[in-house]
Amino acid sequence: MPPETRHYQTWSRLIQDGASLTVVFANARVAAKGRFSWVLAGGNTPRDLYRLLAQPPFVEQMPWAHSHIFWGDERCVRHDDPQSNFAMAQAAMLAHVPIPKKNVHRLVCESHPPAECARAYERSLSEFFKDETPSFDLLNLGVGSDGHTASLFPRHPALDQKDHWVIDIPRAPAAPKLPRVSLTLPIINQAKVILFLAKGQNKKRRIEEILENSGDPNHPLPAARVKALEKTIWLLHWPAVPGEDSPELQDHFME
Ligand code: 6PG
Repeated sequence: MPPETRHYQTWSRLIQDGASLTVVFANARVAAKGRFSWVLAGGNTPRDLYRLLAQPPFVEQMPWAHSHIFWGDERCVRHDDPQSNFAMAQAAMLAHVPIPKKNVHRLVCESHPPAECARAYERSLSEFFKDETPSFDLLNLGVGSDGHTASLFPRHPALDQKDHWVIDIPRAPAAPKLPRVSLTLPIINQAKVILFLAKGQNKKRRIEEILENSGDPNHPLPAARVKALEKTIWLLHWPAVPGEDSPELQDHFME
């Protein structure tokens, strides 16, 4: 099934839809299975979506008590470092919502070598999914202008990793060029629904190339290899002029 792509005139409309999608799907999964497993993306793009989900009406609509949060990748820095994907989600959303601490499955990768952290996170996923096939209900992803997603980069061996769900990247080839830990494609593509958020003219052409080759397991662009079990959705916004939907405008929207 080809991915579903939705284009938005404004960023605020995009994140409204992203929040509504998340709420609807989360509640459907809790009704069906009693829990909702959700993988957060890192980077800057999803921050406004996380903020919106921590505000009315969405904050009251989300089934936080039955939601379990994971990360698609993490930079190997302290949990409170501004470059940490956990720190971003914590500040934007998790610190402001009634989610049980035990349901926040942080990808810890600052205290030990990244390879050990990758194995430890893999064990925690096995414990969570027990004897089920590890299939996240919703998995958020972003995309870089080079076509990377999570911390899977073009021409990097981690992209072809088939034997592990979680892998270490000793030094990311794109900023921030830090040691990282990332989910791999086998477990990413086991997710039921994958939701990409992307904006910016600098990514437009690359994303068009990704969408033309979406689901190709051998394509050089990592994000093109992504294909959810049920539905892959892209929410896209190409600001007409640089700076449109600037943070101030978004902040105004958030008031
Ligand atoms: C990370 C992300 C990465 C991110 C893209 C886009 O840890 O950086 O997992 O894959 O989604 O680099 O980043 P922006 O949203 O900041 O453009």
